[in-house]
Amino acid sequence: LGQGGFLGSRVRLLLPREIPDLGLWPPRPLGLPWTDPDRLEIELEAAARSFAAEARTGYRSWMIAWCAGSGGVGTRPETLQAETRALFRLLELASAQLSELPGVFALSSSAGGVYGSCPDLPLTEASPCQPISEYGRNKILQETRLLTWAAAQPDRSCLVARLSNLYGPGQRLDRPQGLISRLSWSLVRQEPLHIYVPLDTLRDHLWVDDAARSMARCLLRLRDSEQRSSIVKVFASEQSISLSGILGIFARITRRMPRVVSAPHPLREQQPRGFRFRSTVWRDLDPVPRVELSDGIHSVIRRHLALHQTGNPFSPSRRPGAATPSSTP
Ligand SMILES: NC(=O)c1ccc[n+]([C@@H]2O[C@H](COP(=O)([O-])OP(=O)(O)OC[C@H]3O[C@@H](n4cnc5c(N)ncnc54)[C@H](OP(=O)(O)O)[C@@H]3O)[C@@H](O)[C@H]2O)c1
Repeated sequence: LGQGGFLGSRVRLLLPREIPDLGLWPPRPLGLPWTDPDRLEIELEAAARSFAAEARTGYRSWMIAWCAGSGGVGTRPETLQAETRALFRLLELASAQLSELPGVFALSSSAGGVYGSCPDLPLTEASPCQPISEYGRNKILQETRLLTWAAAQPDRSCLVARLSNLYGPGQRLDRPQGLISRLSWSLVRQEPLHIYVPLDTLRDHLWVDDAARSMARCLLRLRDSEQRSSIVKVFASEQSISLSGILGIFARITRRMPRVVSAPHPLREQQPRGFRFRSTVWRDLDPVPRVELSDGIHSVIRRHLALHQTGNPFSPSRRPGAATPSSTP
């Protein structure tokens, strides 16, 4: 789910590389009518039926990766609740349609969203969740429902993927997240970027393919293990950096300081000041080495420059970098 999105498109690409005996479904991204609840109900149910029918044609098990969701900090509560309802509905449909085969369900959650104001340094899977935004609270609801769903059935496993800030070519630029992509695009267009968190705010930025690859490996391990289990794992680069540090990397690469306007904003209250993550779960499945932040940023800038020079206008349906994915910067 969410195969046309930033993370979902990379998961779709990397899953068959990490799990060669996998059949991908559907052949093309579904493109569900996410903002029309009635049509979504009909199409989600039809998709679940069709997926279950395909799974019964000789497969030993199934996997569903939920990479959907258009929300972030500051998204309207109704939008977030609709996303959560869609996930809950899919879990019901999976119970009803896919009960004959064992399966694994992965959820894209948000490390920043769920840990919120938790003071632990570093934050690990053992840290308590203290969300401070509606986005984080919805992610907790989603995680809890998935874990309960998996525990209620003997042949279900699940992965709760608590992702740090993902970056890479192909990220949407029309939302107040994706700092690196938005900085790069504003630099290329020589426009200032408005930033509403302080410059000393610490964040962890993870190359999207590193996240997608680790998720695929976790799914494979869950599928192949004798015992069904539920895993909660933090997916992060484990290298926190301040916003001014990011600006410094941009300045070194481009020999120009990005122009930012930093001004207070009501959403600042929902943005935690600093994160440092460290996963203690299945570390052997994390990519080694992870993509270096400066290499990744360079790659994003190159892609945006190429798009800008060829006059490709940005629109959400034609995301910078989406047409020619590359797995390394
Ligand atoms: N990007 C990050 O830094 C980050 C960090 C932490 C967690 N996450 C989580 O990872 C997931 C994917 O994020 P992303 O950055 O890949 O998002 P994205 O590029 O906006 O893609 C999300 C996909 O979700 C589907 N979608 C669109 N509107 C939706 C709605 N109103 N409700 C539910 N689904 C909708 C679409 O799927 P179709 O293509 O099938 O139409 C879309 O392609 C989200 O759940 C997000 O909260 C992302």
